[in-house]
Amino acid sequence: MSNGIIQAAYVIAALLFIFSLRGLSNQESAKSGNIYGMIGMAIALIAAVASITGGLHWIVIAMVIGAAIGLYLAQKVEMTQMPELVALLHSFVGMAAVLVGFNSFLDPHIQNFSGGELSVHLVEIFVGVFIGAVTFSGSVVAFGKLNGRISSKPLSIPNKHYWNLAAIVVSIILMFSFVELKSGAGATISLLVMAIIAFAFGFHLVASIGGADMPVVISMLNSYSGWAAAAAGFMLGNDLLIVTGALVGSSGAILSYIMCKAMNRSFISVIAGGFGSDGNIANSSDEEQGEYREMQPAEVAQTLKDARSVIIVPGYGMAVAQAQGAVSNITEKLRAMNIEVRFGIHPVAGRLPGHMNVLLAEAKVPYDIVLEMDEINDDFPDTDVVWVIGANDTVNPAAEEDPNSPIAGMPVLEVWKAKTVIISKRSMNTGYAGVQNPLFFKENSYMLFGDAKDSVEKVLQNL
Ligand code: TAP
Repeated sequence: MSNGIIQAAYVIAALLFIFSLRGLSNQESAKSGNIYGMIGMAIALIAAVASITGGLHWIVIAMVIGAAIGLYLAQKVEMTQMPELVALLHSFVGMAAVLVGFNSFLDPHIQNFSGGELSVHLVEIFVGVFIGAVTFSGSVVAFGKLNGRISSKPLSIPNKHYWNLAAIVVSIILMFSFVELKSGAGATISLLVMAIIAFAFGFHLVASIGGADMPVVISMLNSYSGWAAAAAGFMLGNDLLIVTGALVGSSGAILSYIMCKAMNRSFISVIAGGFGSDGNIANSSDEEQGEYREMQPAEVAQTLKDARSVIIVPGYGMAVAQAQGAVSNITEKLRAMNIEVRFGIHPVAGRLPGHMNVLLAEAKVPYDIVLEMDEINDDFPDTDVVWVIGANDTVNPAAEEDPNSPIAGMPVLEVWKAKTVIISKRSMNTGYAGVQNPLFFKENSYMLFGDAKDSVEKVLQNL
């Protein structure tokens, strides 16, 4: 294929990626956003493979193996495991950037560069390997934390910020020596030592972040993986990789910013770590909170029937129980009884951005009754019944009422302001942040114990 056609294909693919991002920003257009992305990626792959001059069979073998693993994983993975899969995929991008970096350095074609051009190329290699290594080890730790193989408590080694600073300073010094030496054993050692430091730095950076900040970490690593891909694009002289990497890098950074805002956290304090530890919590789960009241499914059904307005607040438990279908059925039933039903969605409900929206859309809940936290938070005082289904941290009043709470300052859905609050969960256990929830002990709160799907179905029968 001629170079002109390949470049044209790259431009089209880049445009399709931009359309894809645009589409993904809204539920109604998300499907078409995905389709644009898929077409763009297919064009990019065909053009990239067509531009290769030798060793095509190796590429085809690698692509078949990769596609088979990808298809298998995509079919097997549960929605709740999606963040783990995403973390793992970020680690591949990171490792790819490290390998591309070492390959570019060892490639005999490097002799084609000289003077300032060579220096720039060497800086690209060094920076690419650094970002790639941080992304790789950070993503592996995030994967381990999300699937529970690594404790979600933040690792807190003494003087941790100084260690981070030292890693950066030493890496900068190594970069100067790498660019100065240009080739040979000295330069190779500089690159290798920096790679080891960067792997350790990425590990430490994510290991010191507590469980409750994991969503931000995932989108931050998403951003890093974009920059790693862009760095690989510079090393390979591939414009599409640079554009795509920049798109992923900046959209990940914007998402991290939005999530930090939703949790009332500054980006720096997330990176600095510590949030989500459960040891030093004044309002910890063991502390006596008072009495809680229970309701049985028949009473819940009656309370709902008597209400004029109902807000359902779903959380991670709804996803685990796969209760969205039953929730959709009950919504339809209540609406048929002329009861106003709406949904209140917290930006970090569940385990990945948009988790609840995806589940509700899948269960065919109409979009126009699914509202974001900012849109619905003022309506709770005028609401008869709030039904919290498998949510916990996102409806915790301690975030507003207890300045010592680890989630203090995080914006929450103010469900306790409604006349009656029903909370469906299996036990009095805490949510993801490991913090006890005073909502369960409020005078207008009632617990409906049991698996969310069973509970909703029982209430539906009683309706
Ligand atoms: P959580 O605070 O995690 O609480 C979920 C609750 O669901 C638990 O207390 C659990 O109580 C209950 N539950 C679990 N399985 C259930 C089942 N089968 N049936 C009924 N209930 C069940 O959920 P949330 O309110 O959605 O908050 C999300 C949390 O995850 C936040 O802390 C957030 O920062 C964090 N997080 C979010 C993301 C993103 S991007 N959304 C990513 C990672 C982490 P029982 O065990 O008593 O049933």
